[in-house]
Amino acid sequence: MQLSTRNLLGIKDLTKEDISLILSTAEQFKEVLQRPVKKVPSLRDVTIVNLFYENSTRTRFSFELAEKRLSADTINFAASTSSAAKGETLLDTVNNILSMKVDMVVMRHSASGAPHFLAQHIPAAIINAGDGINEHPTQGLLDAFSIKESTGTLEGRKVAIIGDIMHSRVAQSNIYLLKKMGAEVTVCGPPTLIPKYISEALGVNVSYNLKETLEWCDVANVLRIQLERQNQVLFSSLREYSLAYGINRTLLDSLHKEIVIMHPGPINRGVELDSDVADSKQSIILQQVENGVAVRGGSFLPSRRKSRPPPFKNGKARTSGAPPSQFLLLIEKKATIHPKKKPNPTRETTK
Ligand code: CP
Repeated sequence: MQLSTRNLLGIKDLTKEDISLILSTAEQFKEVLQRPVKKVPSLRDVTIVNLFYENSTRTRFSFELAEKRLSADTINFAASTSSAAKGETLLDTVNNILSMKVDMVVMRHSASGAPHFLAQHIPAAIINAGDGINEHPTQGLLDAFSIKESTGTLEGRKVAIIGDIMHSRVAQSNIYLLKKMGAEVTVCGPPTLIPKYISEALGVNVSYNLKETLEWCDVANVLRIQLERQNQVLFSSLREYSLAYGINRTLLDSLHKEIVIMHPGPINRGVELDSDVADSKQSIILQQVENGVAVRGGSFLPSRRKSRPPPFKNGKARTSGAPPSQFLLLIEKKATIHPKKKPNPTRETTK
């Protein structure tokens, strides 16, 4: 079982089978993460750089935790505290880091296409942790994982994506993924925040009416207004946006059913989502964050294949550089890696 791509740059490049494989690997890894001992040796002897040119809390820490749980060695790069602040180029920075025998790159950048550019110039495998307004593939995967976990299926599920669709890499990755997996998608928000031809281009429904959209959907994935990516005024004020497109308790109570509320974070409380919705039982926002560790662990699967040396040296099997099927195998063998401790009879009798 292998993925069709070397790098994980976007959901656009993945097949339905790739997505299913990552989600099922994440399911196995999530089981490992529930144990008292949460570590497996799948990425032992693999060194990963988390290269963050843009701020992050959830993505950066969940990648780092997944890497550590899989026994990888990790180093963390933040642009503001590095020599990038002195003008060093992206390519120079990455080539210098790779020369220290780093095997893989997890990368976030404010420029759309930055990881695609890098993929053409470096031998190491890359996982895109969010590029500008293009894609955030592991967010799309963890959102899908969370929808499946809380509602049982993606096939036929009605998912509304609400808010700033125009500037959202989360929206784009979610749409690609949900459509490939057979879900129905409606995007909803002010006309100025929804790309004009999105319906024709991506096969989604478009609605400017929040209440109708909520009445239609099973799941509402609510997005933040990305003021940092808007270079012109696209709506009158945050207060007016909130009045027309903010989700509050009164609105949810007026629906004739209970829907699942999601948000990729960070939340602007009181703008797109009120606290009594964000913190309610209908919300799975913190489950999304928890699932981020499992899904990011699962997302290393495609990237092991071509970035490492072949799994044999001088005719003998290497202990590292294993193909992805062995990655799965190691997780599947978890029960034998960390067997449950049997009670110690000596201690029992001395109590
Ligand atoms: N959802 C998300 O990408 O959050 P961070 O920016 O905190 O990583």
